[in-house]
Amino acid sequence: MEFSIKSGSPEKQRSACVVVGIFEAKKPTLPAELLDKAAEGRISEILRRGDMTGKAGSTLLLHNLPGTLCDRVLLVGLGKEKEFREKQFADAVRATIKALNETGASEASIFLTELAVRKRDTAWRVRHTAIAALEAAYRFEQFKSKQDENRRSLRKLTLNVERRNELAIAEAALQQGIAIGRGAALARDLGNLPPNVCHPTYLAERARALAEEFGLECEILERDDMAALGMNSLLAVARGSHQPPKLISLRYRGGAAGSKPIVLVGKGVTFDTGGISLKPGADMDEMKYDMCGAAAVLGTLQAAAAMRLPLDLVALVPATENMPGGNATRPGDIVTSMSGQTIEILNTDAEGRLILCDALTYAERFEPETVIDVATLTGACVVALGGVATGLFANKDGLARDLIEAGEEARDRAWHMPLWDEYQDLLKSPFADMANIGGRWGGAVSAACFLSRFAKKYDWAHLDIAGTAWKSGADKGATGRPVPLLAHYLLQRTGDAA
Ligand code: BES
Ligand code: MN
Ligand code: ZN
Repeated sequence: MEFSIKSGSPEKQRSACVVVGIFEAKKPTLPAELLDKAAEGRISEILRRGDMTGKAGSTLLLHNLPGTLCDRVLLVGLGKEKEFREKQFADAVRATIKALNETGASEASIFLTELAVRKRDTAWRVRHTAIAALEAAYRFEQFKSKQDENRRSLRKLTLNVERRNELAIAEAALQQGIAIGRGAALARDLGNLPPNVCHPTYLAERARALAEEFGLECEILERDDMAALGMNSLLAVARGSHQPPKLISLRYRGGAAGSKPIVLVGKGVTFDTGGISLKPGADMDEMKYDMCGAAAVLGTLQAAAAMRLPLDLVALVPATENMPGGNATRPGDIVTSMSGQTIEILNTDAEGRLILCDALTYAERFEPETVIDVATLTGACVVALGGVATGLFANKDGLARDLIEAGEEARDRAWHMPLWDEYQDLLKSPFADMANIGGRWGGAVSAACFLSRFAKKYDWAHLDIAGTAWKSGADKGATGRPVPLLAHYLLQRTGDAA
């Protein structure tokens, strides 16, 4: 989808469709009033008759409104004016895209960007219109043998701002929104791909392609390289699979010479059967999403490169399958991680931490300013927070605060969980430095505690996205989270977020 910014009057737009909002109950927004005036009260008449009440999510398409230059007008219900916040704003944009996709209009001019949202400025509204529009327009249809021929989908959206002196700010915010929306779409694509296609080698190829397209540096470590570095924990997970593991690093240099990078580490288990500690069969297909951390860090890197952010960034992806097999790791095996710490693998299904720990040690060589790992790590995190908040753990409170704030700004929220010493005791092993599981209770915390033991040399945060990376059920699919959160965090770091 293409976007552009404009400042103008709704009745003067030569467009296939002009989109304006209506609050509950039957209260037109300013652009709707302007259209109404030009059309000699036709919109008020419709409101009076009750065909559009302003209920959130409702839409009404009008044709050939007199006094206007557009083919259609789409009225979008916004809900109650005093309850109109970030969520309602994004919902209205999504409802707009959904309705437009069902019309014959391939282009539209949207005035929702002019609406006041408490505490949010024009830049925020423009950025989030682009993000929400790309989100709502997303389709993953590459494996359907027949495309829906009847649908003429929306190709171009013009975002209107009230004043001409806002155009430059809006244009910059638009570019950010597009970059973030596309980064999230990349993460969704990678997540939705079937596991027979999206294996570690495929992820490595996609990383190389990104490097090519955006001028990034890409390095892929093979099994032998990892063995030479002593990454026995990561390699223990890969043993059961016929797919070779890869350690992908992708570097974006946008900062001043000598600046230290922010390293984003993404769990890239392209399929998690549980290994010898085999998972139950129900819904196991969803374990193709166990590489959504990897997808998110690649999507974030793409977004950062597209925005040309003035900072240095590394995406680090340990990629492997977790399969059972004659050569697979057994419960009870003890391995020595790259850090030198020994791990008793009591459950081969707690594999995410086993690959992340070696990646976290490897991250030290980038002399990072901050390290953030992103992982579909624990079912326990889904129990704790459901599908709304990402679980956030950090060894530095300031970093946790910044990430929470970025999540609020991005409407991609995280919730701070404890990382207290008391929980570390859960990981005791009689035979090794630690066990890879911490028992039934507090599973998201003990997993984070495990990782913290490998992240002592830098400021570190861990995002458990097990509940937020994809949706099950009727609208099954990857969400692209937490690309918006991470991208907003990076924008914040450059001092360029609203
Ligand atoms: N990838 C899973 C976590 C997961 C499970 C995410 C379900 C989303 C939905 C992870 O590798 C795993 O299997 N974790 C185990 C850990 C346990 C064995 C300590 C879990 O959460 O059950
Ligand atoms: Mn697992
Ligand atoms: Zn897993």
